[in-house]
Amino acid sequence: MRSDHVLAIDQGTTSTRAVLFDASGQKVAHAQRELTQHYPRLGWVEHDPEEIWQSVLATARDAVAMSGVPMPGIAGIGITNQRETAVVWDRATGQPIHRAIVWQDRRGADHCARLRADSAEPLVTAKTGLLLDPYFSATKLAWILDHVEGARERADRGELAFGTIDSFLLWRLTGGAVHATDVTNASRTMLFDIHAQSWDAELCRMFDVPEAILPDVHDNCHIFGATLSDLFGAPIPVGGMAGDQQAALFGQGCFAPGMVKSTYGTGCFLLLNTGQEPIESHNRLLTTPAYRINGETSYALEGSIFVAGAAVKWLRDGLGVIADARDTDSLATRVESSHGIYMVPAFVGLGAPYWEPEARGAILGLTLDATGAHLARAALESVAYQTFDLTTAMTGDAGRKATAIRVDGGMAGNDWMCQFLADILEVPVQRPANVETTALGVAFHAGLATGIWSGIEALPNTWARSDIFEPRMSESERSRLLDGWKDAVARTLGR
Ligand code: G3P
Repeated sequence: MRSDHVLAIDQGTTSTRAVLFDASGQKVAHAQRELTQHYPRLGWVEHDPEEIWQSVLATARDAVAMSGVPMPGIAGIGITNQRETAVVWDRATGQPIHRAIVWQDRRGADHCARLRADSAEPLVTAKTGLLLDPYFSATKLAWILDHVEGARERADRGELAFGTIDSFLLWRLTGGAVHATDVTNASRTMLFDIHAQSWDAELCRMFDVPEAILPDVHDNCHIFGATLSDLFGAPIPVGGMAGDQQAALFGQGCFAPGMVKSTYGTGCFLLLNTGQEPIESHNRLLTTPAYRINGETSYALEGSIFVAGAAVKWLRDGLGVIADARDTDSLATRVESSHGIYMVPAFVGLGAPYWEPEARGAILGLTLDATGAHLARAALESVAYQTFDLTTAMTGDAGRKATAIRVDGGMAGNDWMCQFLADILEVPVQRPANVETTALGVAFHAGLATGIWSGIEALPNTWARSDIFEPRMSESERSRLLDGWKDAVARTLGR
């Protein structure tokens, strides 16, 4: 018997989560698995697609088993994912021909620099809403075709398939029956024209990518296919797919133009809903589809920061100054300030609004009495300062300042962080009771496609906020801290 539960698969950069929601949008059960990060060379980041696939199967089965809801009765599955990460696989066997090249990977920097020298950036931006940067999938895909023996010839013969993680998972879930993606993921490849809403032949030629390798593109709410019966005991429709940041915007209920959300995961991604017209940025932000339902697209302006939670992970795994990511909260409050220390976490270059792929991280202002607590605090503060850079750029593009920002993601659970953010941004920061907004967003998409909910207006109001952090820092203190940050960035970039 069909239930009214929706299973969201949230395949992120550092972990895979599966979350089961009921028709009131409440989380019924969840399961999570960490992912191995591969760093084969300086600036390179890879994932094993097979490990990703196994983590999806395991977490999906675990979450449903924990809930007691019979798996075959699940109404639909939604897939949301780390965006831009590129996988190429063999259509005959379903086997990847190379590890997935992760969005943080910088190996396409030279390729982008060559195209920029050829004055290609204005065309890329006009069509895709993106900037010419190795963050996006196109140069990662081109690299795989150029470096895996025989790949280019096989791609030309139509033997290979490319996809972002959503597309690869859909292929596996449907036993190779469906090669498709959704508009939000397609728009992050740098091969998709967001105005025409189709793959672009000129961009494919520019990046030397055969169009035959690309997936079909659909709305976010769409019956993409059904899972193989033997995976979960019966076929389950995949009714929603969306890039994780767009899914979080949807899960945060930011349906009206002017609403903003900021998600603190591995990186930080701030999206402003701009309605049905794409707005061109004059401040080096991205123009990106937020969601497409019944063929109607809503757009967003996006600021992307590559390192947020990843800085905390580095404190734990790289430096060993904390044992657990949650320790940063208590460490940060143990000291009165960061003691004049600034961390510029350009571990994988700097994203918006700087777009400096070759920049590398720096810690400035160290003195002999600096402690791990000061470093932890500087790492958290750097996330707020980077968010400030994004909101400043966004205010410039939108012509007015946001009246509030909705936050989610792991770091948003840190009260000290939310307060510091409100102080630095000088706007109220709202944190919803349900912080599973990414998973919820794609569960909404899948539930809309499978008839659990009849339309956006019928979605349950689960984002009733639980906490508001009001700005309370003095203007002089705020300016002093921000001046220090601007100086630290300038010195890191050698300006
Ligand atoms: O664009 C990259 C983004 O989608 C990654 O998200 O949550 O894995 O940090 P996350």
